[in-house]
This record gives sequence, C-alpha cells and structure tokens, in this order.
Amino acid sequence: LPRIAVLASGRGSNLQAILDAIADGKLDAEVVGVFSDKPDCEALLRVPEAKRWSRDAADYATRADFDADLADAVAAAHPDWIVCAGYMRILGDGFVARFAGRTLNIHPSLLPKHRGLRTHARALKAGDVEHGASVHFVVPELDAGAVVAQAVVPVLEGDSADDLAQRVLAREHPLLLATLRLAVAGRLAERDGRAWLDGHPLFKPL
Ligand code: GAR
Repeated sequence: LPRIAVLASGRGSNLQAILDAIADGKLDAEVVGVFSDKPDCEALLRVPEAKRWSRDAADYATRADFDADLADAVAAAHPDWIVCAGYMRILGDGFVARFAGRTLNIHPSLLPKHRGLRTHARALKAGDVEHGASVHFVVPELDAGAVVAQAVVPVLEGDSADDLAQRVLAREHPLLLATLRLAVAGRLAERDGRAWLDGHPLFKPL
C-alpha cells in the first residue's frame, strides 16, 4: 500500500478525513505516522501511539535542528507521500529538498491569494466574493508551490471569519481526499514549478 506521512499541529480534522476514507475503502493507502510540532495536539490522538512523533520546537536551539529531527523521523517511516494537514510551522529548505515532489499542503485560501495565516479574516477584509482552499506542492517559499486543486466557496453577507472557516473546512476534506487518490495512484507529479496530472500540466505556475 502507498504510505502517507501526515504533519499536523492542531485539531486534525483533515487527518481524520484521511483515516476515515482509508477505513471505508475510499483511499487505498496507509497512514504510517503523524508528525507534530505540538506534542499536546488533538491530531496525534487520532492514531495509535506507535504512529505518533512529536517534539516541541521550542526545545531546539535552531529551526534547522528541529527540521533535521523531523525529517529523520519522517524518513524512518518510509513514506511515499508527505501531507501537511494543518501543520502550522514553516518547513525548512532541508526538509523540503529531502521530500521534494512528494510533499503536499492544504491551505485555506484560493492561492495565490492569502498566503500565510488568518486567511479567512483576510478574505473578508479584502472584500472577496469567493474564497476556498488549495492543495499544493510544498516548496521552500511559504504557500508558493504548484497548485494541484482548489475548492471554491461563496463569501456570504454577514459572514464572520469562523463562518467562512467552517464553510471552507467542509470542502477541504473532499478536496484533500480527491488529491490524495490521484497522488497514491501515481498520477500526480511536480516538475518545472508546476503540477502534472497523467503527464499533462495543471494550473499555470503561480
Ligand atoms: C485547515 O483549515 C487547514 O487548511 C489549515 O489549518 C486547518 C487545520 O484543520 N492549514 C493552514 O492554515 C496551513 N497554514 P485540521 O487540523 O482540523 O485539519
């Protein structure tokens, strides 16, 4: 079975969607480990203890030290794909290079709009009429890698950032699963700064 390593820092609803899909026979893969920079996060509790790895990044002298430990732990699980599912720490160049072309992130905006944090509040403030989520390949620059797929939701009158977050999250789970099905089937690749499906380019480069 294709092996998926999941990086997470929080609630882990995207991770749970992956686990549920696997349990329901809707994703032919195995989650080989959950890796976190937040030792007390909910996401870790969603897998058996043997599959958990976590370290508090604050215990490390440098970002690169933490990154190297994380990368070693991930490599030891021999994943085919690495998925950042609510992983809230920037991955260092070393990590990104080691797993280049097989690390995906789900980001709660329609990239290239609203890279970084607080995307829902920023979409509201910008007066966006549409908002959503993107799955993209991870590159060293934050949220700047090739987009694989996006899900769009409307921004409705009177929406709070929380309303919007909920509406987007409901679309994130199926979006991530659809993307992962393609990934584990060997249909997805990254080359020349763009994502490819079945040997054909998808979106234009950001
Ligand atoms: C999701 O909305 C995800 O897109 C976002 O964090 C949330 C995690 O939810 N990720 C980022 O903002 C990455 N910078 P979850 O823990 O329930 O999957």
